[in-house]
Amino acid sequence: MINDWVDKENRMRIPLIAGNWKMNTTIGEAKQLVSAMLPGLDGIKNVDKVLCPPFVSLMAVKELIQRTSVQLGAQDLYFEEKGAYTGEISPLMLADLCEFVIIGHSERRQYFHETGETVNKKIRAALKVGLKPILCIGERLEENEAGKTAQVVTDQLQSALSGIDNLNSLVIAYEPVWAIGTGRAATGQQSNETAGLIRHNVAQLYNRKIADDMRILYGGSVTAENIAEFVAQPEIDGALVGGASLKASQFVSIVQQTAEIRGRLLK
Ligand code: PGA
Repeated sequence: MINDWVDKENRMRIPLIAGNWKMNTTIGEAKQLVSAMLPGLDGIKNVDKVLCPPFVSLMAVKELIQRTSVQLGAQDLYFEEKGAYTGEISPLMLADLCEFVIIGHSERRQYFHETGETVNKKIRAALKVGLKPILCIGERLEENEAGKTAQVVTDQLQSALSGIDNLNSLVIAYEPVWAIGTGRAATGQQSNETAGLIRHNVAQLYNRKIADDMRILYGGSVTAENIAEFVAQPEIDGALVGGASLKASQFVSIVQQTAEIRGRLLK
């Protein structure tokens, strides 16, 4: 069976653009932002569009995007189903609410001490309830400068997916940590090379078909000005967008350009 994110006629992966709002927007601001985006966003075809607002705004955003083509994602989850874990949000709570969940973002690894092991547990927990994980991996500046990018992303991928047989609709976001929120994006070529390496690793860990169908995004200072460079790359299937997803016109333009470039590549 061909996966539903693969364009059946052309055997091409359908691109995905996800907006990670991080710890921004009150509920009121979230509603305003979605309302400003929807008229432009809803009609854009052949791109999966995912908004990841803070937990407290998920319900409000869900109501606004009902009956539109826009999908919803959370920014994290805890791996236990329920219990005495004050302040945490479980996979079961999210399963009814959204389709996607970001896991292993570098900010969580850095500020909240997430390890390869916790990321692995979170991926398992998400898959168990049918959520689609957006697994984030990427090297830090010093690792990049020491020529360790390939090793770091390979290790992160292996530990995140360790012991998991069925990846379901998992998406990988390659996000070099030095590019996140810095205004210093990687180049199209750099990110294409690393995405290619990640795809190769997926083929080694699973098989060629799973690797060929896997959507790999780029993330790190993506804007309406540079998105074209990334989505024109053969190994890159979209973007995880932080700062620019908080501006309605920027985000709509990023999705629109992705649709146009991918449409052109199909011809
Ligand atoms: P940025 O964030 O686009 O603001 O660099 C990307 C991310 O952290 O997912």
